[in-house]
Amino acid sequence: MALFNKQQISVLHNTRRIFVKKLLKDIGETGAIEHYCSRVKENDSIANKLWSKQLNATVDNALNHLTDLIGVRIVVHFIGDVYDIASRIRNCYEIQEEIDYITNPKDNGYRSLHMIVHVPVMTSNGPNGQMIPVEIQIRTVAMDCWASLEHQILYKKEETPQMDLAKKELLHCAETLFATDMQMEAIQNIIHKVEKG
Ligand code: GTP
Ligand code: MG
Repeated sequence: MALFNKQQISVLHNTRRIFVKKLLKDIGETGAIEHYCSRVKENDSIANKLWSKQLNATVDNALNHLTDLIGVRIVVHFIGDVYDIASRIRNCYEIQEEIDYITNPKDNGYRSLHMIVHVPVMTSNGPNGQMIPVEIQIRTVAMDCWASLEHQILYKKEETPQMDLAKKELLHCAETLFATDMQMEAIQNIIHKVEKG
């Protein structure tokens, strides 16, 4: 089934590149960002996600049913930084959807703040008048570490009873890392107080 062709993929990349540049400018100078990355979802992943939603792998279905064809991840130092960055983004963009997996982590322990914004589609000749959703994920280094390792361990793995133990251990790791995140935040507050005198 035909998904995005080379030219359409290049438009998605152009859109991503221009949006990320604007986003960082809009967020402004903050020492909070440890690193950021962005990606355009690959055709294979798009097809898998559409099939998992019982949809055919077509460009129309991808554009109408997926909100993460373009994704941006912002990794920050402290939990407070996540909410600071989120509020800076709220000040500049209309948020279509926001899910706080930090206040309400997923059952497996996944934590992150997700936001969906709509951005102008950019061809090489400039905006073509259409808009496309972008998923922004904001998380701490510790949350990012967990998500990356969990993905590495469980991605495309068969469900077996032995997996239950692995999942339990992963949840335990997520809770430990979150406890560390909160401790780090508390330590940062102590240092700030000391600095203020
Ligand atoms: P998917 O995008 O297919 O996951 O479905 P969804 O839109 O219902 O999920 P959600 O918006 O909660 O998550 C979107 C993205 O967040 C994923 O593509 C991942 O990048 C990340 N994510 C969500 N849950 C997990 C998780 O349990 N583990 C890891 N490593 N990443 C996750
Ligand atoms: Mg989603």
